[in-house]
Amino acid sequence: MAKPSVLVTRRWPSVVEQKLAEHYDVALNRSDRPLSSADFKEAIAKYDAVLPTVTDKISAEALDVPKARTKILANYGVGFTHIDVSAAARRGIAITNTPDVLSECTADLAMTLMLMVARRAGDGERELRAGQWTGWRPTHLMGTKVSGKVLGIVGFGRIGQEMARRAHHGFGMHILVYNRSPVDPAILARYNARQIATLEELLPLCDFVSLHCPGGAENRNMINSARLDLMKEDAFLINTARGEVINETALAQALMFNTIGGAALDVFDGEPRLHPMLAQCDNLVMLPHLGSATREAREAMGFRVLDNLNDFFAGSAPRDRVA
Ligand code: DGY
Repeated sequence: MAKPSVLVTRRWPSVVEQKLAEHYDVALNRSDRPLSSADFKEAIAKYDAVLPTVTDKISAEALDVPKARTKILANYGVGFTHIDVSAAARRGIAITNTPDVLSECTADLAMTLMLMVARRAGDGERELRAGQWTGWRPTHLMGTKVSGKVLGIVGFGRIGQEMARRAHHGFGMHILVYNRSPVDPAILARYNARQIATLEELLPLCDFVSLHCPGGAENRNMINSARLDLMKEDAFLINTARGEVINETALAQALMFNTIGGAALDVFDGEPRLHPMLAQCDNLVMLPHLGSATREAREAMGFRVLDNLNDFFAGSAPRDRVA
């Protein structure tokens, strides 16, 4: 029997590309150039499965192909708001994602950002590289203590919980949680955490706020100027979720006028474009969407896609089917 044909839209870790090629008739993107909407239309007509990732915008228009051959969009990444889910459903195209395997590494990166911004690691690194360090002194680059402080976690799924584990058990932080649905008290108890009913109540209580909710239209601008105003003036905001969750103009204003202590971002609205005001903020640490960027996580994400494909083409339900 012919192997199903599969398009991988970007370069993947080579061990996973090799494994995929053993099971499927695979077309790889060796140049790693992003596909256009026209390329996607062509792919939907040509391949049994398309394996996109979080930077591939798959709109209703891209899926509007008269003789679509694609039966599954097996996404490499946990977020899938870049895919028009209802357009895919109308065409009977399944969607899967890759949860769990990147939760620890993403939480590790959120901790990295929290420590960097609180302890002014970016400032220190820049000073050293510019040859401007004049030596140790009692008032040099004083930051903010992290251990024992109050951390508000917005979105208490797998990544939010990994963040709570690190912050509570590693740094003795007090964990407050905002989550749309009620969190099982047994889960909260693992981190001695307390769920707060609204963001309006949570924000004024926190020394640090870390975002771990999904992106998409529903959460666009969730952190706006009114909510930034509710934060303590020395509190820090961390975002490893999605750029659109924060109104970046409002954040830049809060940082420039020091109405909050600082922020640390791994994700940006419209990335890789950077809001010009953000680049001018010194009390901001920025990384280029590195949350899951470890060899271990990126390989595991690829193997998780492979598991989903194998289930799908064997006629059983893929474990990570999201639509
Ligand atoms: C995801 O998976 O959604 C991340 O943003 C990339 O790891």
